[in-house]
Amino acid sequence: MPSKKTLVTALLLTALCATLPGAALAGNAIAGRAKAQTLCENCHGADGMATLPGAANLSGQQREYLREQLRAYRSGRRQGEQMNVIAKMLTDADIENLVDWYSSIKISVEMPK
Ligand code: HEC
Repeated sequence: MPSKKTLVTALLLTALCATLPGAALAGNAIAGRAKAQTLCENCHGADGMATLPGAANLSGQQREYLREQLRAYRSGRRQGEQMNVIAKMLTDADIENLVDWYSSIKISVEMPK
């Protein structure tokens, strides 16, 4: 049985790691990356920056927005020939994982001068 002090130290370390930049990806994002490699990156790029003209950049996108679009393509509420086909292959869990993956890719923005 670990002492109370050991447990408190472990908790503090966990909390600290979660706030450090470059902290390891959480499980969902890892699963999302694997799914993206097989189903998405041909058009949206390995880093979420689109390689197909007409596809969207997904890196750094808002979680809520990504989730909403994927659900809308799946139900047909949003039309997009290729995306309607792809989204029908996704479970709710796949969508959550993909959302975690794309939203966790960091991007930087430069304003025009
Ligand atoms: C065959 C090419 C192709 C593949 C593969 C593909 N997409 Fe797309 N995606 C597109 C195109 C083209 C659009 C723009 C469609 C439109 O006009 O709505 C799009 C749009 C999107 C959008 C909406 C972006 C926005 O800004 O509104 C999301 C989210 C998205 N794709 C996610 C994914 C995910 C996640 C996968 C893998 C599961 C995937 N796509 C696979 C071509 C593709």
